[in-house]
Amino acid sequence: MTKQRLRFFEKASSQQHIPDDHKYLYKSPEPNHRLAIIGTGTIGQEHMYVCSLLGRGRVYGIYDQQLHSMDVAKQNFQSYSDQPLVLYSDIESLCNDVNVDAVMICTPNFTHFSILKQVMSSGKPIFIEKPMATNLENSATLVELASDYSSFVQIGLQYRYKAQYIEAFHELHSRQSIGDIKTISMSEYRPPFLDKVDQWNKFSEYSGGTLVEKCCHYFDLINLMANSLATRVYASGGQAVNFLDLKHQGRSANIDDHAFVIIDFANGVRANFTLNMFCHDFTEELVVTGERGRLTTKETFNFHQNKPSEATIGIEKGEWGASRESHVAYSQEIEQSGHHGATYYEHIAFMDQLDGIASDPATPLQGLWSIIVASAAQHSLQTGQVVDVRQFMVDNNLAHYLG
Ligand SMILES: NC(=O)c1ccc[n+]([C@@H]2O[C@H](COP(=O)([O-])OP(=O)(O)OC[C@H]3O[C@@H](n4cnc5c(N)ncnc54)[C@H](O)[C@@H]3O)[C@@H](O)[C@H]2O)c1
Repeated sequence: MTKQRLRFFEKASSQQHIPDDHKYLYKSPEPNHRLAIIGTGTIGQEHMYVCSLLGRGRVYGIYDQQLHSMDVAKQNFQSYSDQPLVLYSDIESLCNDVNVDAVMICTPNFTHFSILKQVMSSGKPIFIEKPMATNLENSATLVELASDYSSFVQIGLQYRYKAQYIEAFHELHSRQSIGDIKTISMSEYRPPFLDKVDQWNKFSEYSGGTLVEKCCHYFDLINLMANSLATRVYASGGQAVNFLDLKHQGRSANIDDHAFVIIDFANGVRANFTLNMFCHDFTEELVVTGERGRLTTKETFNFHQNKPSEATIGIEKGEWGASRESHVAYSQEIEQSGHHGATYYEHIAFMDQLDGIASDPATPLQGLWSIIVASAAQHSLQTGQVVDVRQFMVDNNLAHYLG
């Protein structure tokens, strides 16, 4: 059990007179684990900051194949940490450093497969960003490698730790507030994919396609909520607005910017997911309906108005019982540390795994199932046909995952 911390007072100017050896509530934990991060772009730097904010581990070293990313990451790191930072010249030396306890892989999607295999030669615990790979074949190989691995592999599907979904899982599964779940409806409306080093996320070949790259988060959430395996998937979508004129290194961007996906599950749950990426701000919604009521969540982030993100959860039960709606949020500093606080709680799960404490991080198998649904949806989108997941898996040599 981590002891309580009062970060607000820890940082308040009126409390700076408390000597270090008199501190209890204001004392940061001693970091127990030294992490090395490969890929110090947007999310790599978020992990560096969150690791420091949590304080149970420290970022010992970093490697990025682009020196500019490493320089910027180091500069930003020094703005909130006075710890030294090792800059590695390659992945091999990072893996071979006996001072490194665990490795986080935060490079673009198309590099995950080969880098994960390389890092596995170290035998160290590994965190790898979502999606675990850009295609089904590599994802399945990684699940097999991870199951034989001497340590653990955690996948970066951290939306499950957003405050509204932690509460939703509790209401749906523990309290069973709306009875048996029958339908799940999720949507994300957001601005286009952000700029990336080499614009890797504008090309399906490097990202795995929008439904794999972005929507694996939502398919993971829907799979967890349905608590069953997908049996049929149908999708419609395309590239309507974004990056129609973007050419990078002579190639035109080819990334979908909207989609509607329908998923049937083996236990009779029906789900749909809507994506729209030419919107002015971020809105994420969930509606789950059961035999005895409806659960809704909504998260908004309007950066044009410079407003912090806000999330709500509602339970409506009609004559079945009490209804309510409430705001749901984490402590502000945590909420603002990245992905509405989800990355912070993902780090707690990672640290718990390192400390041998039971936790609920995304597993390679869950990562694979998020990609199975995403790939089936992408296949449907290309062919215009409904995908029978059983046949799709047989065709992709994945029948042994059908159970
Ligand atoms: N979990 C989440 O919510 C979330 C959010 C954003 C990104 N991501 C994932 O994180 C990964 C990185 O995304 P990003 O937004 O930080 O991209 P980015 O382009 O901002 O950063 C990627 C960094 O990796 C470096 N890099 C590329 N190839 C490399 C290699 N072979 N070895 C070492 N470094 C290399 C690049 O130079 C760059 O600095 C992607 O897989 C993405 O899907 C996850």
